[in-house]
Amino acid sequence: MEIDDINTIAVLGAGNMGHGIAEVAAIAGYDVNLRDIKDEFVQNGYEQIEWSLDKLAEKDQLTDEEADAALDRVTPLVDFEEAVADADFVIEAVPEKMDIKKDVYGELEEYASDEAVFATNTSSLSVTELSEVTERPERFCGMHFFNPPVRMQLVEVISGEHTDDEVLDLTEDLAEEMGKTPVRVRKDSPGFIVNRVLVPLMNEAAWMVESGDYTVEQVDSSTKFDMGLPMGSFELADQVGIDVGYHVLEYMNEVLGEAYEPCPLLVEKVEDEKLGKKTGEGFYDYE
Ligand code: CAA
Repeated sequence: MEIDDINTIAVLGAGNMGHGIAEVAAIAGYDVNLRDIKDEFVQNGYEQIEWSLDKLAEKDQLTDEEADAALDRVTPLVDFEEAVADADFVIEAVPEKMDIKKDVYGELEEYASDEAVFATNTSSLSVTELSEVTERPERFCGMHFFNPPVRMQLVEVISGEHTDDEVLDLTEDLAEEMGKTPVRVRKDSPGFIVNRVLVPLMNEAAWMVESGDYTVEQVDSSTKFDMGLPMGSFELADQVGIDVGYHVLEYMNEVLGEAYEPCPLLVEKVEDEKLGKKTGEGFYDYE
């Protein structure tokens, strides 16, 4: 398949990442089927896209016509078959749990066309293991966007053990068509490049607060003002979703060892469903 053969993209999962990826693809001119398991989830994702496109138009990053046209290219769907049957390229962005993703790939294999390429937006899980659930592991790779996808430039394109080089080339071309800068990740190891660095930073920040010696605000000001990062570690955890960071750590802990043990402060937030911006409260309050 060549880049010009890609017309319709299915995005599975309309959460923070899914709707953001769908928006980026629609702005780039692709027809996008955005699918989630409940109408409520998919409508919420669609509304977030509408909000974001309005913001971009307000700031003259898109014209009103371009924003309207991008929204028109997004079809919100719950029916799995309808969402994927005519897709040339499928980007999966469902929750960061191996079992959930594997179930989705089982269903996807049933309904997708034989030619379609599958790409997972996993933040950390083994691309090889996920690819082996399908009958097309050579046409399966990682395509990892960053939050918020419409603002973040980088996309990690991850090779599983079975991925064809042409599929990696195609996925990089697609990332470029979407206005992004792809980086090829040859080693399919937990967290790939970015999260291997970033998620332990969030965890270490949480351990410092857990120790009782520092506050969230103190740690965040040092990351932001001394290290010059655009957000403090806790602000970033709230932006990404504390549950997402926690699931990445859980997996790194399982595969890479005890240095990655998730801090109890993160566990507590996940149990209390205080997951960050998306729930209105995390380490900071957004109500
Ligand atoms: N669409 C449109 N507008 C958006 C938006 C979106 N999705 N998200 C935020 N905005 C708007 C805000 O509403 C705000 O608008 P107003 O000015 O009208 O209030 C505006 O953008 C803020 O933009 P600014 O450029 O002024 O803000 P900023 O300079 O702080 O940039 C940022 C925002 C790009 C998010 C920046 O803070 C940043 O780069 N943060 C770090 C993000 C990051 O590292 N992400 C990666 C996380 S790791 C990850 O995602 C991997 C994983 O798998 C876990």
